[in-house]
Amino acid sequence: MTSKLRLGVNIDHVATIRNARGGLHPDPVRAARLAAAAGADGITAHLREDRRHISDEDIDRLMDAITLPLNLEMAATHEMLEIALRHRPHAACIVPERREERTTEGGLDVVRGAADLRPLVGRLTEAGIRVSLFIEPDPAQLDAAKAVGAPVVELHTGAYCDASGGLERERQLGRVVSAARHAASIGLECHAGHGLSYDTVTAIAAIPTIVELNIGHFLVGEAIFIGLEAAIHRMRGLMEQARATVVA
Ligand code: PXP
Repeated sequence: MTSKLRLGVNIDHVATIRNARGGLHPDPVRAARLAAAAGADGITAHLREDRRHISDEDIDRLMDAITLPLNLEMAATHEMLEIALRHRPHAACIVPERREERTTEGGLDVVRGAADLRPLVGRLTEAGIRVSLFIEPDPAQLDAAKAVGAPVVELHTGAYCDASGGLERERQLGRVVSAARHAASIGLECHAGHGLSYDTVTAIAAIPTIVELNIGHFLVGEAIFIGLEAAIHRMRGLMEQARATVVA
């Protein structure tokens, strides 16, 4: 049987708009509540080291206000580890923030960073937080994620979404499909995200071993035109349609 595909709604860019004027509106916590009412399975928020969108106070308020699981995206730093351990969100997704932490395409370089990541993954896991590593769809990165003890990987779909020509998009999709298969074969739970839109979600949602998508920028942008709830409904509908076509 094909597993259910969860949707995590990333609310960072609601905070980006709020911060443009330095006030309180629009409130990312309100967006999280709306996302929950519209059928999101989780809320994702990235507390960046430079606090360019989500703030520490947003994380406090999200932890108090929402009943959906919170997926805290964070850099692999001591400061972020302490914040995660204080809040104990459902999940923590480790993402690169500095150039030297990235692979050439943008995911976390787990191969080079294994020595630093292993203890971080261990501390978070001991605290009961489900850890995922945001990586390129590259078998070497998947094997390294497994080796450092992460139970989950999130495959970076940016190269697939950004590919302009059909052939290049097919090639990038092929990398995601093989990586998702490889993840399952080595016992990693597989998520995906970055850059997904109505146009690009279907092929990713149809990959049976991917169990969660995290989507933000497109949904918040689309909300300007049709509202957040309607945008989430439509995205969910496309995900479910794609999933229904999958033969397990
Ligand atoms: N997953 C991860 C790990 C991310 O860092 C982000 C934000 O860049 C997303 C998913 C959502 O990406 P987007 O906002 O492009 O939908």
